[in-house]
Amino acid sequence: AIIGRLNEEQNLPLYQQLQRGLRRAIEMKLLNPEDALPPERDLAEEFNVSRITVRKALDGLVSEGLLMRRQGSGTFVASRVEKSFSKLSSFTEDMTSRGKTPRSVWLRKSQGVVSPEEAMSTGFAPGTPVYRFNRLRYADDTPMALEFCTVPAFALPSLEAVQSSLYDALEKAGNRPRRALQRLRAVLLTAPQTELLHGKEGDAGLLVERRGFLQDGRTVEFSQSYYCGDTYDFVAELTTSE
Ligand code: GLP
Repeated sequence: AIIGRLNEEQNLPLYQQLQRGLRRAIEMKLLNPEDALPPERDLAEEFNVSRITVRKALDGLVSEGLLMRRQGSGTFVASRVEKSFSKLSSFTEDMTSRGKTPRSVWLRKSQGVVSPEEAMSTGFAPGTPVYRFNRLRYADDTPMALEFCTVPAFALPSLEAVQSSLYDALEKAGNRPRRALQRLRAVLLTAPQTELLHGKEGDAGLLVERRGFLQDGRTVEFSQSYYCGDTYDFVAELTTSE
């Protein structure tokens, strides 16, 4: 009903009217992530348009990232997670604000000092005592990211201070990062990484690195998060400067 009648007289082409209607249905959550769309034939019948029109509308929504096609099983509402580009938020906050339950499986938690090689990328002085946290991070039951975080030991009372959220623990200690630099790049995932993230061989990999700073400019975290396939979608708002 939300889509209403497609109208030949409107100056918007029929496929764009259909596309707009479906987009609205997704935005209003009348169609939910992972919902299957009816077959093209049924949609064509329902809206009294040709299958070519339906196909064109769906193609448009697939390229916008709102729908996805799965070989042999049809078209579905995409379930990827959108992440604002400029907000300094934690994984826990990102997932909670989307109504998902964040969960972590600990792979490793350790204490050590920064090696010269590590010092090059983390910005910590060689020999700085650090805590290292390696987790597989889930949204509900879906593994989303394989994450490695290094935090200087001064920032936390102990290794055990981090139980679920790193940023919560840093916040409690008065050391939550206030600013950060973030870098994204395409990477090839190793077979074990792909497996941990429930990907398929050949899936694309994304590495997100973050260096977080305290108000006074000291580095308080260096993290590397690996994502697999198209589960994550980074969105940036671009504006012209006046
Ligand atoms: C994101 C950031 C990491 C940060 C993490 C903290 O994944 N990319 O740099 O360490 O959030 O998340 P949480 O507080 O849930 O442990």
